[in-house]
Amino acid sequence: MAETKKMMRVLAGETLPTPPIWMMRQAGRYLPEYRATRAQAGDFLSLCYNSELAAEVTLQPIRRYGFDAAILFADILLVPQALGADLWFVTGEGPRLSTITEQGDFNKLVGRDDIHDHLAPVYETVRILSKELPSETTLIGFAGMPWTVATYMIAGRGTPDQGPAHRLMQTNTPLFEALLMRIEEATVEYLSMQVQAGADCVKLFDSWAGSLKGDAFHKYALEPAARITSALKARHPGLPVIAFPREAGEGYVGFHKATGADCVALDNSVSPSWAAANVQKDGCVQGNLASSHMVTGGQALIDETQAIVEAFSNGPHIFNLGHGITPDADPDNVSLMIETVRAAQTV
Ligand code: CP3
Repeated sequence: MAETKKMMRVLAGETLPTPPIWMMRQAGRYLPEYRATRAQAGDFLSLCYNSELAAEVTLQPIRRYGFDAAILFADILLVPQALGADLWFVTGEGPRLSTITEQGDFNKLVGRDDIHDHLAPVYETVRILSKELPSETTLIGFAGMPWTVATYMIAGRGTPDQGPAHRLMQTNTPLFEALLMRIEEATVEYLSMQVQAGADCVKLFDSWAGSLKGDAFHKYALEPAARITSALKARHPGLPVIAFPREAGEGYVGFHKATGADCVALDNSVSPSWAAANVQKDGCVQGNLASSHMVTGGQALIDETQAIVEAFSNGPHIFNLGHGITPDADPDNVSLMIETVRAAQTV
C-alpha cells in the first residue's frame, strides 16, 4: 500500500513540495482546551497516567490545526519514576525527583524488565491514539536520552548548567556510567513497547546534549543514540528514528551516519543554510523556527518560516520549532506558521 502519511514519506527520504509540520509541546498550556483537560485530570502527572485524557490532549492540536504528526502525551521523566525515583512537579517551577549521588541511591532502582507495570498507561495511550488518529497523521513515540534523563535523576531537578551530573561524571565515573546504562536499557524496552502499541516512529530527546563537549559528547550522547537506534531497528525493522541532540552545534555534523538515525532534529542555534549544507546532506532534518515567534508573530514569523522552508527545500525536511512552544504563545500564531509553511511551494 502506498504510504499516505506525509511525515513517514519524508522520514523514508522523500523530498516533498511542502514539508510536513508538527510542533514540540503542541499539546500544552498555550491551548485553553489543554488547560481544561489538565484541570479535569487534577495535575500534570495524573494527566500523563490517565490514558483517555492523555489521548484527548494529544488529539486536541490535531483537531485544531491538522498537524501532520501527533506526539504521544507523556514526559521523559516517567522513566525515572518507573525505575523507582520519586517524582513530583512544583507548579510554576518544574520537576523534582529524589536524587542519585551515591551507590546506595542507585541500588534502590529497579531493572529494565520491571518498568512496564508502571508505564502500562502510556502504552494504552498509544493504543488509543493509533485507533483514533486520522490515517494521514503520523504517531510519534518518544523518550528522553540517558544523559538528559540522568541530569534530572542526579540533581533531583532541572539545572541551568547540569553541574551535579557533570560533577558525578568526574568524581564517580562508574556510578555515572551505570546510571546511564540503566536508563539506556529501560529506554529501549520502553520505546519498543510504544512501537508494539502502534507508534509509527520514535524521537529521542537529548535536551542537554549541548553541555557535553568533545569525548563526553561522543561517549554519552552519540554512542547511546547509536546503540538505542540499532537495538530498536533490530527489533522493529524499518522503524524511523528521530534524534534530537539539542544544541549539539558542530556535533550535529555526521550525526545521521554515526548513529543510524533517519532524521536529526535541529534547535534554532544553528542557521538553516549551515544545517542544510552540513547536516541535511546526510539525510532528513527537522526544525528549526525559534519558538519565540509563536509569542511575537507578525511579518518576522512569516519571513523566518519562509526562509527555513526555502533553505531546506532541496532535501527531506520536517518543519518544527527549535524547542517546545511556550505557555505564553498565541494560538493564532501557530495557525499563521502552518499557513505559511503550506503556502510555500518550493520544489
Ligand atoms: O511535545 C509534546 O507535546 C509531547 C509531550 C512532552 C512533554 N514533555 C509534556 C510536558 C514531551 C515530548 C516532553 C519532553 C520533555 N520533558 C523534555 C525534553 C524536551 C525539552 O523540552 O527539552 C524535558 C526536559 C522534560 C521534563 C519536563 N517536563 C520539564 C523540565 C517540565 C517543566 C517545564 C515546563 O515546561 O513546565 C515538564 C513539564 C511538561 N512536560 C509540560 C508538558 C505539557 C508542562 C506541564 C504542565 O501542564 O504544567
